[in-house]
Amino acid sequence: MRFQDVLHSAGPQARHIEALWWPMLGVCTAVFIAVLAAVIWALLRAPRGGPATPPDLSSLGKPERGARIAVLAALAVSTVLLVALTLASFFTDRALARLGPPALTVEVIGHRWWWEIRYEGFATANELHIPVGKPVLVKLKGDDVIHSFWVPNLSGKKDLIPGRDATLTLRADQAGTYRGQCAEFCGAQHAKMAFLVIADPPEQYDAWAAAERKPARESADRRGGDVFMERGCATCHAIRGGGAAGDSAPDLTHVASRQTLAAGSVPNTLGHLAGWILDPQGIKPGANMPTTPMRPDELHALVAYLGALK
Ligand code: CUA
Repeated sequence: MRFQDVLHSAGPQARHIEALWWPMLGVCTAVFIAVLAAVIWALLRAPRGGPATPPDLSSLGKPERGARIAVLAALAVSTVLLVALTLASFFTDRALARLGPPALTVEVIGHRWWWEIRYEGFATANELHIPVGKPVLVKLKGDDVIHSFWVPNLSGKKDLIPGRDATLTLRADQAGTYRGQCAEFCGAQHAKMAFLVIADPPEQYDAWAAAERKPARESADRRGGDVFMERGCATCHAIRGGGAAGDSAPDLTHVASRQTLAAGSVPNTLGHLAGWILDPQGIKPGANMPTTPMRPDELHALVAYLGALK
């Protein structure tokens, strides 16, 4: 997985932002140093006096030619720099809007605290798969509070505001797995609201989408599926082809194909899956997933069933 980093852009959108960020940093650093230098210079050349020094008001009457020139020059330089940065920012915004018609449209819905990702014909969670080299239109919706979709290596951030749909376009030019993170404080588990963007070559992406579109695979042992229904998991979760149709929690049709559980909180292994089912509040306090007490044999059957949903 690529380290989450604005300065290692892997697509045009992030590259435009990176190209704006460096000059902004340069200008701001130069201005900061110039202002500090002026302050130090002024302090050093100010006349020194002690408690016994008589007041000298003679300088008040003198014309301040040097100071006037300095202020005017600083004003002119500031104006030029601010206009230049505004223009640079304007052209960056324009460049961001010119990615071209999308090859794929995906809907991303922010929930406390996970990401619902809807493709045509199927849904997944906390994992956005995209084909490399193709523009992707991401439609953003907020379900409860304001979240912010941010994959630093691929694009700038965009808020998901309930009742106000937003869009963002991005393209990955290098195959890889990029970490994304909710970038707007949204409650107790804001930090555990991560996601992955997985950019694959188009054939590989198509194969993934075709597999995800299929209903859940038949389980050799129906026991786990029965536990899923009996213990109330199906009230919130859906398993297409498995009889569960809850719609307030992640779709689990192909949960075993995902890399993490609980929005990037833990790796998706059978051990973590069992831990998450038994004690979700220990892993993510405040999450909507309730603690579901069950017998060891039920847990084993359930984990075996879910772990096989590739
Ligand atoms: Cu969602 Cu922070």
